[in-house]
Formats: sequence, structure tokens, C-alpha cells
Amino acid sequence: MQTNTPQSNSGAFPLGNNHRLFIAGEWVDADDHVEIRFPYERKVLVGRVAWANKAHVETALTAAKEGAKEMAAWPLHRRAALLQRIADLIAANKERFAWLIVHEVGKPIKDAYLEIDRAIAAVRLSAEEATRIHGEVIPMDAVPSGEGRIAYTVRRPLGIIAGITGFNFPLLLDCHKIAPALAAGNAIVLKPAPDTPITALELAALCAQAGTPRGALSVLPGGDEIGEALVRDERVAMITFTGSSAVGQHIRAVAGYKRVALELGNNSPLIIEPDANLERAIARVLAGGYYAVGQACIAVQRIYAHRSIYKEFARRLAEQVGKMRTGDPRLSSTDSSTLVSEQATQRVLRVIQDAQEQGAQLLVGGKLQPDGCITPAVLLGVTPNMQVCQQELFGPAVAIAPYDTLDEAIEQANSTPYGLQAGIFTNNLQAAFYAAERLEFGGVHINEVSSYRADHMPYGGVKASGMGREGPRYAIEEMTETKIIIITP
Ligand code: SIN
Repeated sequence: MQTNTPQSNSGAFPLGNNHRLFIAGEWVDADDHVEIRFPYERKVLVGRVAWANKAHVETALTAAKEGAKEMAAWPLHRRAALLQRIADLIAANKERFAWLIVHEVGKPIKDAYLEIDRAIAAVRLSAEEATRIHGEVIPMDAVPSGEGRIAYTVRRPLGIIAGITGFNFPLLLDCHKIAPALAAGNAIVLKPAPDTPITALELAALCAQAGTPRGALSVLPGGDEIGEALVRDERVAMITFTGSSAVGQHIRAVAGYKRVALELGNNSPLIIEPDANLERAIARVLAGGYYAVGQACIAVQRIYAHRSIYKEFARRLAEQVGKMRTGDPRLSSTDSSTLVSEQATQRVLRVIQDAQEQGAQLLVGGKLQPDGCITPAVLLGVTPNMQVCQQELFGPAVAIAPYDTLDEAIEQANSTPYGLQAGIFTNNLQAAFYAAERLEFGGVHINEVSSYRADHMPYGGVKASGMGREGPRYAIEEMTETKIIIITP
């Protein structure tokens, strides 16, 4: 067995380092390889990665069948202890993961550190939830035919889970799939995002070091055909996917009888009522509109501010956004950097241009810098027909529009195909509850932006934002089946 497990927790691998596939405890090479580029300098700093083919999927799934049997037989305390060891190892390799996340995604290092802390929390929370997997006693005598019978439920693992993740939070998203899958007693085959496979491979190395049974985890970097093979294979019991709504819709269409959890796109709205604490709202939009260079499903994108305050809100926000430092993501002083690819950069610039051409005012930013960064932007006076109000932007810009009545703001917020998380700032309890009831989203924040997520919250969307919930307790529910045992004396 060859291994490329990291030997130290700092610095880069030498240029051209070859990373292999992780299949059931083995490091396996492939015929094809892909170079992973550092988005800020557009050059290969992280290394070359073996690219899986369908034969690798077959090997991983064959091993996963055995891995699933073994995990299902593990008592809960043993699963919990495994996950605690994985969390300890991630914590011990924090610098290494920060380096990887910065160099694979290109996000500022301060965002990378936050991601790692959240990933550790997600794994520890999964460990705790592993010890709380239980069923209930069913009162059978609620109907005459049940009299004298006793029944109880248990939760059983599904078997093999296929995880497919996005690039924007490579460690966190992978942990939100791997940790609950193992906690629930399943095996998981993970296909990480093509831009960020090395973080996933090094996480797999730590999972193996912590004692994850062979077969219970495989990580297969590769192209769309790998995802397609996993999604269509009858041995896979569930697909848990984070990515675009278009791909999510395709997965659902071809998944057959498999269970499907989809964490898809969003176009997050925020309502600012006239009585809101503007200073706090501005501070939270600064954090939540631009973290990870806006590449988060729940990044604030559309802001509906009451007509009596929208100009002041926009002016003060633009003043703060103009002070954000853009540049090299390796520097701790950097607030915003390049997007993951040149294609993403051009797409975001086009959406900003579309808004301007249709009459929106660019208050600050939105300019391409010589180093490839887009300066963080604020658009004012956007209208529903603009791309920025309809699509998911995934970039460093927010768009502001005024409104006159709360009903109008709610209607605008609900007017896109998406429904992941939304927010409202107000000191009026009645307005807050009124909006919370009517906003069609998986989560609604009162006096907080859509971007806030604690990793034990049920997290997921409605409409084109997906189905199913993440957050360890809820993911474990999705990844287990209720079985009833009925005793007739
Ligand atoms: C995501 O974009 O999918 C996750 C964002 C987060 O958890 O902060």
C-alpha cells in the first residue's frame, strides 16, 4: 500500500505532488490526473490528483458493502469514539487544512480558519448524536385491534451513502456528509468537488488514521461521470448532494428508489424594517454578504430596505464595503479575494453589468483588479427582472431595493425559485413573527442575516433550494430507516 498521508501539518507539498484516490483504506493511482490550481495565482501549488474512472467506483462500492456491514455492527459508543478521534486529528492538523483550503478554493485564510472550527464542531456534534440514535414505544392500543400488543421502533442504517460535495467549503461540507453517515452506521463513498479534492483526500487519511473500517469510506475525485455512476448504482441507498439546483434536479430524476438529500442554491434575501438597528444590520451584512468571497449558498444577496431608510442604509454599507481589503488570500489582513475560477469571475462581472445596464447604480466595487479579484460591490435600485435578483450570484456583491410595505418586501423575498435561508431586521415583534410565518424558506433569521448557520441547526431549503436537512441530528435521521418491531403476546 502506498500512502500520501501528510507527514507534517504545515506548509505545502512539493510542487507536482501526486495525490492518489482513497479506496477502502488503500491509496490507488489512476491513468488520468488533474492539476489543482491556486485560484489567486492561477498556478499549480497544491498538486496533481488521480482522477477516478468507473472501475474505481466499482471497487469502492464493492468494498462499501462490507464496510456498511461492519459499521452497522459497531455499537454507538464505538462510532462516537471514532468520530471524536477524527475531530481531534482535524484539530491537530488545523494549519495544514487552512493551507489547503486557501490554496484550493482561494478563500481568505480567516474564512478558512472559521470553516475548520465549524468542521470540527460538525464532527463532534455527530459523535454526540451517535449516542442518541433511538426509537420509540408505539401505543398500540390506540386502535381496538392493537389491544394487548407491544411495539417499538429502532433506527437502522441505510447501508451505502453516496456523498457529492461543492467546492466552497471543502472541509465543512465533507464533514457534514461523512460524520453523520458513520455516526448512523453507514459506509460512504464521497465524490468531492473537482476544484477541491485534496482537502477531502487528506480528511480521508485522518479518518483512516482514527480507525475508520476499510470499506466504510472511499474518496473518489473525478468528473461528472463518477457522480452519475454513484447516483445510478442500485447498491447506493442514499445520495446526499451539495451543489447547483440544476444538478440536484437531475439527481432526483435519476435516483430511482434512493433516498435523496439536496442542499442546493439560494439567492438569499434580507428585509430591513424602518425600526431596525442599522449599525448591527450593516455589520452583519458586511460579514454575511462577503464571507468566502460571497461563495456561500446563504450569503446575503438581495436586501429589501424600507424606503424611509434605504438611502442611509446603502450609503453607510457602501462606505464600509469600500474599506474591505482585497488581495492575496494567504494574508490574514485580506477580507476578499479571487473567485474559484476565471469562468466564475466573468459570470459575476456579467451579472453586475446586467444590473447596471438595466438602471441599477453601482455604489462601490464591482471592478476587476489586475490580480483577478473583483472588488466587493454594492448595487442600489435593483429590480426583480435583473439577473442579480433571480439567479444565485456566488460572488462578492449585494443588491439593494427599497420597499413601502412589509407585505411587498415579503413578496419580493419569496419571488425567486429559491428558498434556503432568509433574514429580517426589526425591533417590532409583530413584524418579525408576521414575516417569519410568510417567508418561504427552510430557515428565517430575526435580527440576523441569512448567512448565519450553527452546525447543529436543521439546515436545508424548499423549492429549488432542495430537500432534506443537514446538521448531524437531522442528517442522521435522513441516513437511517425506521423499523418497527411488534410483539403479539
Ligand atoms: C454552503 O454554502 O453550502 C454552506 C454555507 C455555510 O454553511 O456557511
